[in-house]
Amino acid sequence: MPLGHYVTLGRSGLRVSPLCLGAMTFGEDLGWGSSVEESQQIMDRYIDLGGNFIDTANFYTKSHSEKIIGDHVGRHPARRDRLVIATKFSGNLYPGDPNGGGSGRKSIVSACENSLRRLQTDYIDLYWLHNWDVHTPIEETMAALDDLVRAGKVRYLGVSDTPAWKIAEANVTARFRGWSAFIGLQIEYSLLERTVEQELLPMARELGLGVTPWSPLKGGALSGKYTRANAGEVKRDRQFIESSLNEKTYAVVEELDVIAKAHDSTVARVALAWVRAQPGVSSTIIGARRLAQLEDNLKSVDVNLTSEELGPLDARTRPTLGFPPEPAGPFPSLPQRRYDRERRPCPVHVRPGEGAQALLTTRSLMTPTVFSARCVSRPQRDVGNGPLLSWELLGCGDA
Ligand SMILES: NC(=O)c1ccc[n+]([C@@H]2O[C@H](COP(=O)([O-])OP(=O)(O)OC[C@H]3O[C@@H](n4cnc5c(N)ncnc54)[C@H](OP(=O)(O)O)[C@@H]3O)[C@@H](O)[C@H]2O)c1
Repeated sequence: MPLGHYVTLGRSGLRVSPLCLGAMTFGEDLGWGSSVEESQQIMDRYIDLGGNFIDTANFYTKSHSEKIIGDHVGRHPARRDRLVIATKFSGNLYPGDPNGGGSGRKSIVSACENSLRRLQTDYIDLYWLHNWDVHTPIEETMAALDDLVRAGKVRYLGVSDTPAWKIAEANVTARFRGWSAFIGLQIEYSLLERTVEQELLPMARELGLGVTPWSPLKGGALSGKYTRANAGEVKRDRQFIESSLNEKTYAVVEELDVIAKAHDSTVARVALAWVRAQPGVSSTIIGARRLAQLEDNLKSVDVNLTSEELGPLDARTRPTLGFPPEPAGPFPSLPQRRYDRERRPCPVHVRPGEGAQALLTTRSLMTPTVFSARCVSRPQRDVGNGPLLSWELLGCGDA
């Protein structure tokens, strides 16, 4: 699957690459990023290979990240228009100013104007609420964002690092008010961080939000450079990685290494391929501080893991989830929307509106089950067994 194999982001018409270029490391202002020159090389290489999706935030590297993107691509209309530039608001760049961040109307409008100026563009393709602001009513945030969309300054909206119940409230409110709603969800998701599978991922599937995982290598812990053998020896520029280097991580890395060798690949590529293979994931936000890391990570799109490889990785890293447990018991013949999670092996090819019957083995039922479903969306992406589609379940029964 090449980088130019674009997918629609959630239930929207926005086409993005399966790997998004994370720009949190653009600039050396915090002591561990890439230089301006190397950031430019990273962008050029990503774009040359067909990548079209760049993720930054107003406060990454003290705003330098946005400026590097603006200087290199934002101010060149021909390059800029081919890209999907995403940035975020809510980070406060003005210590002491209570309206310098958050998601109140005053803060959002000024954050947007400042990001547009640094990015040197007239519009932001995807504007993310970076963190939920508990002190601002969500109606105020959504109304202000809708105004930015109507003014042509923003094309699409996304939400990051916010509880599922608040996102559901935001989108339902927006839908019934006729406002723009969130089409993307940005969450930490990797083999070492899977608690998002309890609420956030099912919420995203239900509401049609395209998932864009961040820190897919857990900040580098799953890159392959940290192993049990070199524990304590490898220099760690990013100190927050220390807490991730433990027995569980080393065991996962060893399992990834075995799979990588079988694919003639690398640990980082296999770890990224696992994230990409998870249902609901539209585009994985990769981090690359060095050009060589980018080259390595981009090749993950060619790694397709088998169910024999995915199964043990899943079992080793499956999170302990809280209450309520996964829906099951009372409705044995209606496995809720679990079919959606298990649609990967589905071999049917239908067009929107057509009906189809598919034989699936679901993780929840563990028996072959015939699902009767109606296709309700265009193909999202192709994972080798045919296009992934969104389905409306009409009925099901034993095979
Ligand atoms: N919404 C949010 O709250 C949020 C939070 C965090 C990140 N993000 C977004 O997600 C993007 C990615 O996050 P992340 O940087 O944490 O991703 P990550 O992929 O988990 O970690 C990236 C780091 O891993 C190491 N690395 C990556 N590829 C490697 C390779 N092939 N070989 C060896 N080491 C490798 C590098 O560490 P070294 O620097 O040590 O070399 C690199 O800086 C960010 O740029 C940002 O756009 C969003």
